[in-house]
Amino acid sequence: MADLQNCDFCSLNPLELFEQVTAQGEKVRSLKAEKAPKDDIDTAVQLLLSLKLSYKTATGEEYKAGSPPTDFTPVSNGPGDTEDNDFVDPWTVQTSNAKGVDYDKLIVRFGSSKIDKDLINRIERVTGHKPHHFLRRGIFFSHRDMNQILDAYENKKPFYLYTGRGPSAEAMHVGHLIPFTFTKWLQEVFNVPLVIQITDDEKYLWKDMTLEKAYQCAIENIKDIIACGFDINKTFIFSDLEYLGMSPGFYRNIVKIQKHVTFNQVKGIFGFTDSDCIGKISFPAIQAAPSFSSSFPQIFNNKSNIPCLIPCAIDQDPYFRMTRDVAPRIGFSKPALLHSVFFPALQGAQTKMSSSDPNSSIFLTDTPKQIKTKINKHAFSGGKDTVEEHRKYGGNCDVDVSYMYLTFFLEDDDKLEQIKQAYTSGALLTGELKKALIETLQPLIAAHQQRRKQITDEIVKEFMTPRKLAFDY
Ligand code: TRP
Repeated sequence: MADLQNCDFCSLNPLELFEQVTAQGEKVRSLKAEKAPKDDIDTAVQLLLSLKLSYKTATGEEYKAGSPPTDFTPVSNGPGDTEDNDFVDPWTVQTSNAKGVDYDKLIVRFGSSKIDKDLINRIERVTGHKPHHFLRRGIFFSHRDMNQILDAYENKKPFYLYTGRGPSAEAMHVGHLIPFTFTKWLQEVFNVPLVIQITDDEKYLWKDMTLEKAYQCAIENIKDIIACGFDINKTFIFSDLEYLGMSPGFYRNIVKIQKHVTFNQVKGIFGFTDSDCIGKISFPAIQAAPSFSSSFPQIFNNKSNIPCLIPCAIDQDPYFRMTRDVAPRIGFSKPALLHSVFFPALQGAQTKMSSSDPNSSIFLTDTPKQIKTKINKHAFSGGKDTVEEHRKYGGNCDVDVSYMYLTFFLEDDDKLEQIKQAYTSGALLTGELKKALIETLQPLIAAHQQRRKQITDEIVKEFMTPRKLAFDY
């Protein structure tokens, strides 16, 4: 896409203009800066609101209603301001639809691209591996610039993976496994370095938590992440609180980003207000910086141009829209992204699983008995009220949380399809469906707990030591 230019009349770039408008809660689909007077933001906003015209780039590309420019879409139009009532930002996921968020609409609203059959086939062709079931089943459903990563890979050019985790509690839940399971698969299939950011600083800033506690949660979470099976020779895991003081590259990149993003922009993207602490306001630069290889001089031999691919849940996209906007202005390339759906809460897909609500979550520390009780007691069912009705009309997999969880954790496509058919026809009862889920999760979590037990403090320390990995640059 052509580079967007600052408006000749009000000297704001389109992102700033766009956010000025959306910050005021208006559903403005198209912008025109032409009549906005120089240096008069308020008037510009008023004009934009009243004109609802389109914004032209230097090359004459015009953005029209319904096709917001890539990287320039707001997080959401604000609660209650969308036709479908879906609300998605890095802190809240809420919808009134029992099937969950409408992800096709989210792709349009965020301006990302769908992971379609063509892309999945290309991944298979290029890597020679059967696509992961998260790809086959639409669990990773959206992307930005994945084709560029595949181009690089085909041309034997390097790239690296970046993902992360905010350590909000000591125990992680099964939903947290999704990005890491998938990242591990990507690391194996592409054989590339991986950096994992643990944002203990973020959790200190957002939660009622001491710095000591945030760091302690970071270490506990790192053990769970290592237990997912990452290769110690190809993976660097870092706590922000620790690495920021150690790395010559990381803080420099943070400061560069901070110089090129305005308060207006982060207000528009993240909804910060004047009473938010300045730590929150500057935090997005810290989550952005690992997208640039010069933040890890020890791994990339001081090179700043190694492309980055970020697997994450779609709620993290606002951070990376900002990152992609700022990248060319500080001489770096934009990171590519692979987005996953949210992991639904036990009570239903209207919201995501959250560690702060123990009844909504199955934790990686739960015993087989706890897993069984939680699923039987809390997992929202798409079955009918009585056995007779269920046999007659069948169950609804679209809203059934146990079935949804099986799509994440039951790898066998044939078995999953059988369960779906049987449940939909009424042959399989809710209790039996729940049993299938319990029997899938119990061994999976027990195996995770076994692996986690083997993770010593020494192993954690080694993963967290800034060092060269098994790649030359
Ligand atoms: N903010 C994320 C969270 O709260 C953590 C995170 C940092 C992250 N960097 C990331 C997630 C990169 C995905 C990709 O969980």
